[in-house]
Amino acid sequence: MNSPQSEQSRWHAFDDLQALQDAAVDAILDSAARSIEERGRFLLVLAGGETPRPIYQRLREAPTDWSLWHIYFGDERCMPPTEEELNARMAGEAWLDHVPIPRAQIHEIPNGPRADIAAEAYANTLRPVGVFDFTLLGLGKDGHTASLFPHNDWGVEQDSPDTLAVFNAPIRPPQRVSLSAARLNRSRQILFLVSGESKRKAVARWRAGEHIPARVIVGEAGADVLVESRLLQPANT
Ligand code: 6PG
Repeated sequence: MNSPQSEQSRWHAFDDLQALQDAAVDAILDSAARSIEERGRFLLVLAGGETPRPIYQRLREAPTDWSLWHIYFGDERCMPPTEEELNARMAGEAWLDHVPIPRAQIHEIPNGPRADIAAEAYANTLRPVGVFDFTLLGLGKDGHTASLFPHNDWGVEQDSPDTLAVFNAPIRPPQRVSLSAARLNRSRQILFLVSGESKRKAVARWRAGEHIPARVIVGEAGADVLVESRLLQPANT
């Protein structure tokens, strides 16, 4: 059932990708400054995939106190640590390996062959962690976000576990670990990054009110969706 919250997705359209990426960097840094001012630290959840890469690269130069940043991941692919496609590896190469965030404050989801073992380990990591300050998410062409896929359990109920083991992802690799919808929703701010022609149908389904995974992630104050404006217009315009 869609709670009133699920109507709280605020769409922000950008004519060009650079402006969208700049807006994402500004939103993250504004949240970091506010969180550090109010609570002395910044708890940030990273998205995987390719869309966030240029945003992570821009963050290398951010004027901030990196010692107060704590990094978590919304999902991870169960693959050997040498695999290029690991979300933690992408974030590291693009950004985290280039800034002095204490390694003990970068909380990667354990990789390896078993989603259930990794999910349990990450649930233990998250147990002492309260509300996230900022959660960054992407959108898959089927409407998935993190590794919450259509036709699977998204863990929306309040008493859902913090992490879910996924064994049947429709995109490789089949085994993944995802934060549950309930855990992602324990975020003060949610920001979706949506770009690329392949997302057009998912955007249309989301805006038409279809029950896709992205739709149930609204955090504590609704979700902001940064989207390329061409994806809001009919194709071939
Ligand atoms: C993953 C991501 C996933 C991603 C979307 C969009 O591990 O695949 O966490 O949820 O955000 O699939 O991916 P792109 O940004 O590469 O289009």
